[in-house]
Amino acid sequence: MLSVLVLVSGGGTNLQAIIDAVAAGKITNTELVGVISNNKTVKSLERARNAGIPAISVSPKDYADRAEFNEAFLAKVDEFQPDLIVLAGFLVAIPQAMVQKYSNRIINIHPSLIPSFCGVGYYGLKVHEKALERGVKITGATVHYVIEGMDEGPIIAQKAVAVLEDDTPESLQLRVMEEAEWLLLPQAIDDIANGRLQVVDGKVKHV
Ligand code: GAR
Repeated sequence: MLSVLVLVSGGGTNLQAIIDAVAAGKITNTELVGVISNNKTVKSLERARNAGIPAISVSPKDYADRAEFNEAFLAKVDEFQPDLIVLAGFLVAIPQAMVQKYSNRIINIHPSLIPSFCGVGYYGLKVHEKALERGVKITGATVHYVIEGMDEGPIIAQKAVAVLEDDTPESLQLRVMEEAEWLLLPQAIDDIANGRLQVVDGKVKHV
């Protein structure tokens, strides 16, 4: 059984997709052991508690500086003893010590086809604003392992989504979620839980 800890910052629709996929048997061999948010008031915590998953918040605002927060955050993560950490719309930089400790055990969903529209400053709705500004005709989503460089780890899965002429950032965000994110992330967790992924020379192989 893979113990999965989900980290969130916002609405938690990706978290909900994971919860629903576990309930529907689309993700197997997996227990959702906890949810941590960096934000006290988010809908995600409610989604987790409704599903009977322990949910807590650890906010940078409650600590003197980033170093103190990072230490407290990692301690909370460790308490859940996760086999896999899933960043489902988690918009805080992952402490280096955590990336090292959980090497090859952290995955992230990003709402573009990496390496387009990613890196510092590209998160949430901003990614879709930039895609529309650039006038791309195709965008999508990517699930990848987390390494120290932002959005740079081995790519697990990607799915393309069409950009329509009358799209707004909000309409594009929703289509990317519906057509890509809510499918890719549960699939990646199921693949990991059932031993179907291997990282070889920095690249992901489906075995
Ligand atoms: C999702 O679109 C996710 O891909 C994105 O934030 C949104 C969270 O939505 N993540 C990033 O931009 C990470 N760089 P949700 O809270 O409804 O799942």
